[in-house]
Amino acid sequence: MTKLIAGNWKMNCHVESGTALARGLADKANQSSKSADVAVCPPAPLIPLIIEATKNSPVSVGGQDCHWEDSGAHTGDVSASLLADLGCTYAIVGHSERRADHGETDAQVKAKTEAALAAGLIAIVCVGETEAQRDAGDAETVVGGQIEGSLPAGGTPDTVVIAYEPVWAIGTGRTPSLDDIAAIHGFIREKALASHGLGDGLRILYGGSVKPSNAAEILAIEDVGGALVGGASLTVENFWGIIESCP
Ligand code: 13P
Repeated sequence: MTKLIAGNWKMNCHVESGTALARGLADKANQSSKSADVAVCPPAPLIPLIIEATKNSPVSVGGQDCHWEDSGAHTGDVSASLLADLGCTYAIVGHSERRADHGETDAQVKAKTEAALAAGLIAIVCVGETEAQRDAGDAETVVGGQIEGSLPAGGTPDTVVIAYEPVWAIGTGRTPSLDDIAAIHGFIREKALASHGLGDGLRILYGGSVKPSNAAEILAIEDVGGALVGGASLTVENFWGIIESCP
């Protein structure tokens, strides 16, 4: 299964820096023989510029969120069909920062995933436990519940990607042990996704403090189908270092 390395730029980059980053990645990708799927997810207003900067390269572009409705009175939101119209391939949905900052529920994430699929996008559905939940031994229950509540019927391994991002590992420099990553990815595939008939072939990304120095060992784990990268996706050197770490 080809790994997917997706950069979530979050609320970073402006016109000049974002364009330069995208051009740098497009150049690297055009010169590389590495077989990985590469995507960047810039802030929504930058998407047309980043699509332009990465055209004629294998770098794909995604939105960081989408609304569940196709149009209407939803100030500040972006529809999945607009993302698709602009040339996006992916939409991240249910990131923990949106679950926390905007109170997004599993039901809303499910509706957003449905909207992404209806628009022809690949949905990157994010799940992950907090540190307190892990300490209480509840990581699998939480993640299993999020997958149960956030995945609509009708997804396939070609249209849905899961991103397991433990909240306590995001932006902290801390990561779970390799054994813990392997265990929860195995749980997601064999238990949580199997009940949706999706256990085989669906990519499960790991996210949370992935960087060039730890990417190879994380990406070597069976059941880790790639990485969703925050901070280290903001320079060509770091992001490409992660892509080069794909086995
Ligand atoms: P960091 O790589 O900065 O920890 O962020 C991970 C993340 O939230 C990607 O969506």
